[in-house]
Parts: sequence; C-alpha cells; structure tokens
Amino acid sequence: MHKGIFITGTDTGVGKTFVAIGLLKAMKEMGYNVCPMKPVETGCGTFNGRLVPADALKLVCAIEADEPLKLINPYRFKQPLAPAVAAELEGAVIRKQDIFSVYKQLSKKYDLTIVEGAGGIMVPVYKKYLFLDLIKDLNLPVIIVARPGLGTINHTLLTIEAARNKGLRILGVIFNHSVKIKNDLSVRTNPDVIEKLGGVPLLGIIQYMKDSSGHHVQNVFNSIAEQIIRKL
Ligand SMILES: Nc1ncnc2c1ncn2[C@@H]1O[C@H](COP(=O)(O)OP(=O)(O)OP(=O)(O)O)[C@@H](O)[C@H]1O
Ligand SMILES: [Mg+2]
Repeated sequence: MHKGIFITGTDTGVGKTFVAIGLLKAMKEMGYNVCPMKPVETGCGTFNGRLVPADALKLVCAIEADEPLKLINPYRFKQPLAPAVAAELEGAVIRKQDIFSVYKQLSKKYDLTIVEGAGGIMVPVYKKYLFLDLIKDLNLPVIIVARPGLGTINHTLLTIEAARNKGLRILGVIFNHSVKIKNDLSVRTNPDVIEKLGGVPLLGIIQYMKDSSGHHVQNVFNSIAEQIIRKL
C-alpha cells in the first residue's frame, strides 16, 4: 500500500482542506493511523507575533494529530502568494530536502500521510520547482479537487494533462461545492464529460454543506475513502 496521497486542486479555494479533513476523519474511523501534512502555507495571519497556519491547524485539529506543528507544516509565510514568491519576498529559502525529510518521518510512523498542496499543481514551491515536481519527487498518487460549475472542464482537464505529462498517478477527481451554486445543466453534465475526456475516475461529488459535522457528510467521505484505499 502507498504510504501517502497528495491532494491538489484546480485552483485555490476549491476545497482541498475540506476534502483532506473529510478523508482524514474517514480513514481514521476505518482504523488507519493517519496524519496530515501541509508542506508550505501562505497567507498566514499572526497571533502574538507568530504566523498562524490556518489550514495546517484545521487539519491537525480534525483528527487531533499528535505531532508538532513544525512537522505538519514546515514552512509558513504571511503573504497570500505562491510559496516561491512569498518566500522570496519574506527573505526565506524553501529547501525541498526539508520537505522530503519531514514527509519521510511522517510516512515511517503512519499508515497514510495526506499531503495538501497550495493552489494547484503548476504553482511554484521555490524558483522553478513546482508542486508537480514535489509530488513526483515524493512519489505520491494524486487526488484532484475541482469546482463543479461552468469553467471546470478546462481547469480540470488542464490539471489532468499536466499531471499525466509529469508521469503522476491520478487516483481520481472529486467535485466539491465549496460555495452554494445552482444545480444547473453544467453542474449536472461536467462530471461525466471530465471522466470521459480526462480518462480519470470520478471519486465523488460533495455538495455544499452548511454543517460539516453531520453524519451525512461523513458518509460521503467514507465512500470516497474506501475507493481510495482500494487503489493504494
Ligand atoms: N462542501 C463544502 N460545503 C461547505 N463549505 C465548503 C465546502 N467545501 C469547502 N468549503 C468551504 O470553502 C472554503 C474554501 O475551502 P478550503 O479551505 O478547503 O479550500 P482550499 O482549496 O483548501 O483553499 P487553499 O487554496 O486556500 O488551501 C472554506 O471556508 C471551506 O470551509
Ligand atoms: Mg487549503
């Protein structure tokens, strides 16, 4: 079984963290020893002069992960920019070796490490080194979180194509309604189009959920988690 999965998205704000949390909870419930990782987080607020990585904290809290935050999230920056750009502006250097070493530590200890990117796969981690390169170097299979409505065919197929060209293994696409939109004709037809043209499995469709703590939500994630585990 693979020791990790990488959650990417077609864009920022599509629901990567929301999906990662749902999967972490579902897999923990299934008896797997799971841990999140958010290698680089940008756009962090500050509290008492320290940067607060909101995504990493949400991921940790969701399953009460018992690891120091510096392992779950080795790099964090204030500016809401691509990691490479934020790091340069803030006078920091992101070393891929640090990310590899943290991932190695976590993957030794856990059955599964769920790694969340920042933005999409063509976002630079440092200089010209993209998340695509990081995923390849970490040898992780990928889940693509996509928007459900108009415009998603282009974004999702481009993401699939870029991942394939890099030789990444795509486990499937999850359509997530991170905002409440009308269930129009595009929303109803897009999953089928992307599955056929992209040649990737549709893992699930997650509706907009006002209350993300209910049973109904977890049932959807349980079904997606089972499919993923079977593929690892
Ligand atoms: N299915 C959903 N139902 C309700 N709210 C959702 C759903 N999916 C995501 N959201 C909300 O939408 C917002 C964006 O989601 P999220 O933070 O998971 O996106 P992201 O892709 O991780 O963003 P980033 O690129 O900043 O990491 C959050 O406030 C989240 O709680
Ligand atoms: Mg996120």
